[in-house]
Amino acid sequence: MYKTHTCGELRVEDVGKEVSLAGWVDRVRDLGGVSFIDLRDRFGIVQIVSNPETSPEVHGALSPVRTEWVIQAVGTVRKRPPGMENPDLATGAIEVELSHVEILNPAITPPFLINQEEEVEEQVRLKYRYLDLRRPRMRDNIILRHKVVAFIRRYLDERDFLEIETPILFKTTPEGARDYIVPSRVHPGQFYALPQSPQQLKQMLMVAGMERYFQIARCFRDEDQRGDRQPEFTQLDIEMSFVEREDVMDLLEGLYIALVKEVTPNKRILKTPWPQLSYQEALDRFGKDNPDIRFGLELKDVSDLAPVSGFKVFADTVSGGGTVRGLNAKGLGDYSRKQIDELTDFVKGYGARGLAYLALTTEGEERSSFAKFLTPEVKDKLIARLEGTAGDLLLFVADKPAIVFESLGRLREELRDRLELVDKDMLGFCWVIDFPLVNWNADEQRWDPSHHLFTSPMMEDVHLLEKDPSRVRGQQYDLVLNGYEIGGGSIRIHKADLQEKIFALIGLDMDVARERFGHMLQAFSYGTPPHGGIASGIDRLCMLLADEPNIREVIAFPKNQSARDLMGNAPSEVEPGQLEELHIKIDLE
Ligand code: AMO
Ligand code: AMP
Repeated sequence: MYKTHTCGELRVEDVGKEVSLAGWVDRVRDLGGVSFIDLRDRFGIVQIVSNPETSPEVHGALSPVRTEWVIQAVGTVRKRPPGMENPDLATGAIEVELSHVEILNPAITPPFLINQEEEVEEQVRLKYRYLDLRRPRMRDNIILRHKVVAFIRRYLDERDFLEIETPILFKTTPEGARDYIVPSRVHPGQFYALPQSPQQLKQMLMVAGMERYFQIARCFRDEDQRGDRQPEFTQLDIEMSFVEREDVMDLLEGLYIALVKEVTPNKRILKTPWPQLSYQEALDRFGKDNPDIRFGLELKDVSDLAPVSGFKVFADTVSGGGTVRGLNAKGLGDYSRKQIDELTDFVKGYGARGLAYLALTTEGEERSSFAKFLTPEVKDKLIARLEGTAGDLLLFVADKPAIVFESLGRLREELRDRLELVDKDMLGFCWVIDFPLVNWNADEQRWDPSHHLFTSPMMEDVHLLEKDPSRVRGQQYDLVLNGYEIGGGSIRIHKADLQEKIFALIGLDMDVARERFGHMLQAFSYGTPPHGGIASGIDRLCMLLADEPNIREVIAFPKNQSARDLMGNAPSEVEPGQLEELHIKIDLE
């Protein structure tokens, strides 16, 4: 037997026991001939000691040992001498006096230190991910992720959900990204598509009468990478029959509140029940439909003041159909010109043409890029609208709504970070509802689903589908945490005729629709229960629970920013013979 105990569990009560431990050498210290080794495994660190006087053989066997060697250590647990205890270590009151040691595997020098937190370039970490995962931070993230998933499985099992696997080789399930496709050897010229989500299949499971389904599902989307996006990622995917919007939302809310309490008891939830915002309210107040609700600095609409303001930029924007909005950067009234220029450059990065400012200094003075154009009356109204007082910095963007929201929404979060406005242990969950069902795609001159094809419109809005699609709301909901979208779902269309209407609205030719989704339309004609569901990003949830800045830190083997696996070097070329079998010719021209 290699191990009678783990490296993390021995305590004073174990003194006198004969134990066998095995793990990695975390650190070696030689003090006056006596060797002290920190032996590490997933569970912790324990000190083992060899003394050349009392056990020369063991001491000799240990002499070549370096960090990261794998050894087995047999010996007796003893109390550390007074004053030598290490209160930072769970096993710090004891040490193991060795009677035998076995070298299981030596190690070459690792490319970075395992036993200390040091800045290591991410490319190097990803190339040697198996070493990176040995480091405490990554180990803890992986453990946290396991606990999250284990809790979810237990919670849903207790509530009559069935965990059902769905195929990875299937046909296109669009969620707005490009598909990863897989050529078929058996059917030359034909391709599977990897699922962007199990959306169609989980709806089929409802037709099949499963009623309550979940899956810890892998999804594949070929889209631009960001810190919160990976080409393959994991969803908690849920679908339920005979439910309304609130039923699905209540289930997830109950699940995550219980999960936080058990898995991350150090975290607190800002408000329960979770606030629900309409899509429009989220944009108006926070500039984005995935708002961080943990702090203020909310946006204010001042478009009504623009025509009479005397400031041409504002007036022209509004007369051209745009909007003018501002926020009060509380306490930054003494920001220098240079600091304000930095903020201006920041919003320009999101398409804004400028950032008009009105600084109310703590001395009671005003500095402004545009106040000289304003009548005193309008200026007072602007200040009042933003609740400005001495010491505040009022910032405005005038533009098309999309740009105003994006730039001020981002600016608001930039100020959150600069001013450290949030407690990292606070979780601001909220729901965003009442999205428009479809958005106008001006480039393609068509309506695109704002969620996906299968989302049901609000029944009271169905009559607007032909007259005024922009006013139709979808029965969908997004779950947002600390400024990230961590889930989305909807009540589905469960009748073939309504589904066909939506295909028509988004300009999907009926023949194409039948080719792609005929199986669904057909299934729906055999008795389909009203149903709905949600999918929540496990990677994003774990990232936020682990206080990590991106989802790669909570994924064992993530891809880098250009969708490459640096450890296995994928994607890579394949043997010419493989391509021949698939009837594929590469043309890189
Ligand atoms: P949606 O496309 O909103 O909905 O995805 C659900 C959640 O999955 C997470 N997510 C991602 N996480 C990491 N990397 C990505 N590339 C990525 N893309 C999405 C987000 C998101 O909120 N089938 C529907 C759900 C439903 O209607 O039931 C769907 O997939 O946290
Ligand atoms: P200008 O008259 O171009 O010198 O601009 C005066 C001030 O208005 C400067 O602070 C600009 O950054 C700002 N500004 C210009 N365009 C916009 C805009 N679209 N929205 C907000 N502020 C703007």
